[in-house]
Amino acid sequence: MQNTQLTDSYQRQFTYLRLSVTDACNFRCNYCLPDGYCPTNSEPYLSLEEIQSVVSAFALNGIRKIRLTGGEPTLRKDLAEIMALCKSTTGIETLALTSNGYRINKQLKHYVDAGLDQLNLSIDSLVPETFRLITGHNKLTEVLMAVEQAISLGLKKVKINSVLMREYNNNEMQSFLNFVKDRPVSLRFIELMQTGDNQAFFKQQHVSGYSIQTMLEDNGWLAILREANAGPAIEYTHPNYAGTIGLIMPYSKNFCASCNRLRISSHGNMHLCLFAEEHHKLRPHLINEDTEQLAKRIRELLQHKGAAHSLQQGNSGSTQHLAMIGG
Ligand code: 5AD
Ligand code: SF4
Repeated sequence: MQNTQLTDSYQRQFTYLRLSVTDACNFRCNYCLPDGYCPTNSEPYLSLEEIQSVVSAFALNGIRKIRLTGGEPTLRKDLAEIMALCKSTTGIETLALTSNGYRINKQLKHYVDAGLDQLNLSIDSLVPETFRLITGHNKLTEVLMAVEQAISLGLKKVKINSVLMREYNNNEMQSFLNFVKDRPVSLRFIELMQTGDNQAFFKQQHVSGYSIQTMLEDNGWLAILREANAGPAIEYTHPNYAGTIGLIMPYSKNFCASCNRLRISSHGNMHLCLFAEEHHKLRPHLINEDTEQLAKRIRELLQHKGAAHSLQQGNSGSTQHLAMIGG
């Protein structure tokens, strides 16, 4: 079989797949699922066999990194098997997981043994009560323990995601910076994104990442030159800090120009953008087509990817919340 490349009509190259394995979640983040998870699709999640077809076809198309996402992916009992499957597929070099970190402690070693290389955990506040207000769970201690465990297990990268919110965590910058002083982790501030469900919340809470960018640059933080396949985060280092700080600013100019990722939902839909109106059902083709046919189908679908989202115009496509497609 010949290895191909995924290139869209704007000459962007895609080497990174975000594969959601469930849309269920045990948290109730105020910007995502404030009323908790409520199933909207009665179809089963992709099976191991279907996931193998997806992963093989994307790998044949030059995908080298897979991130497993949710909802909360650790809710899937067969997550370690999914990991082993991804990691043993020819071409897949890096396997990452995004989790809310609640209850991951017991499983993490198992995941690393199955091939996990990188872990992203969400920590929107370092104040226990604020963390509870945001997520609906008093679990900051457990998630912080997961960070320490991930570091000591020697994962290649440990990242922490923190969604910026005016009234919740915008006053915690100093604690966040202290957090990366001696910990070799990458802490990434993500600008709150508007979705179908969170419009009023977005209006109240959205803060631009530019103020943090200025604060970092004024305090001796240096932007790292982007690698060829780097995603849309801007990363900063500081000589006195073991960790790094990243900024993900989806409302900034040219954010989409460096897009290098594609998404598959837990029901097998291909999303060309987080905020597109439409998605493409791969499921009917997963078992019926061979890997080359499926890979060709994916390359054709990619030609429909738009140049950029139109979040700035208040248009978040058909995305009600990011648990639907895993952020
Ligand atoms: N805006 C920004 N980030 C979000 N996430 C979920 N919903 C949103 C949103 N509306 C983040 C989560 C997690 C990552 C997968 O996406 O906090 O860190
Ligand atoms: Fe769950 Fe993630 Fe949504 Fe929070 S942001 S409710 S952890 S899917």
